Amino acid sequence: MKPHELEATARALVAAGKGILAADESGPTIAKRFQALAVPVTEENRRAYRELLFTAPGLGEFISGIILYDETIRQKATDGATFVEVLQRQGIIPGIKVDLGAKALAGFPEDKITEGLDGLRERLAEYARLGARFTKWRAVIAVDDDHPSRTCLAANAEALARFAALSQEAGLVPIVEPEVLMDGEHTIERHFEVTAAAQQRVFQSLSEHRVHLEGILLKPNMVLSGKECSHQAGMEQVAEATLRCLRRGVPAAVPGIVFLSGGQSDEQATEHLNAMNRVGPAPWALSFSYGRALQAPALRIWAGVAANAGLAQKALLHRAQCNAAARLGKYSADME
Ligand code: 13P
Repeated sequence: MKPHELEATARALVAAGKGILAADESGPTIAKRFQALAVPVTEENRRAYRELLFTAPGLGEFISGIILYDETIRQKATDGATFVEVLQRQGIIPGIKVDLGAKALAGFPEDKITEGLDGLRERLAEYARLGARFTKWRAVIAVDDDHPSRTCLAANAEALARFAALSQEAGLVPIVEPEVLMDGEHTIERHFEVTAAAQQRVFQSLSEHRVHLEGILLKPNMVLSGKECSHQAGMEQVAEATLRCLRRGVPAAVPGIVFLSGGQSDEQATEHLNAMNRVGPAPWALSFSYGRALQAPALRIWAGVAANAGLAQKALLHRAQCNAAARLGKYSADME
């Protein structure tokens, strides 16, 4: 591990006015997104869709890094360049999702644990050879009155810390993602309580595993009302609760927070990020690593038709530009 290189990469990923595009949907997840639009689920369609995203003209102005999936990092654009080379041409840092998905936690059937640690050292070495410079691991934490269990938080924190330590050993910046889901009827207060507990447990494990905090990024959920909660917290309350939660649990040594969108509408994800950046200086850069909230309009417009690619690219660029403005607290609804 070269701490200075890790720190430089982490800081480049949260450079002012830029954020991360998560394009690392696993096979089953991208299939779900395609099926919703009646797009045939084929390797060529996945490749063509990712090519459209990665070659959007000017994307590097707003996007610092893109997270790829195992299949994607091995694919090529129509001109024969690997996707890693395509991103490098755009000035975008290639990253890779390295977890193997969440399964039921034995003994705790309602809780999930993310798998993928066995053989990870060897896989990381290969991804580094293929040109990746950062990694992502997502823990999935579902909320109701009785869940998650403490065991679930501890097991996922341990896995995130082992992933982070192995990534740094391989010279790759880990994006540590403990996602507390917004699905459910819980109040924003309950979401706060679980998110705070999850983050505190994660940083305990990171410290126990000697992870170099200056060379990671945290990818948390925002603190929100559950999707099915009858009272929905407003923008200011979400921004305030999210920042309060982060201040309690996230050391100032961490260079950046890159939020996931998690099922918020595109505009909401942008508004919430903007509201947090308007509050004023925080110890960490407050940025984005959105999947759905950056891609949804582009995917809808493309819908598997090559002739729509140009318009789809414009839609992606627009969301990237809105979120880049939100990083500076300069987004407003008339940008829509
Ligand atoms: P969403 O922004 O769609 O939640 O995806 C981000 C991500 O990478 C989840 O792992």
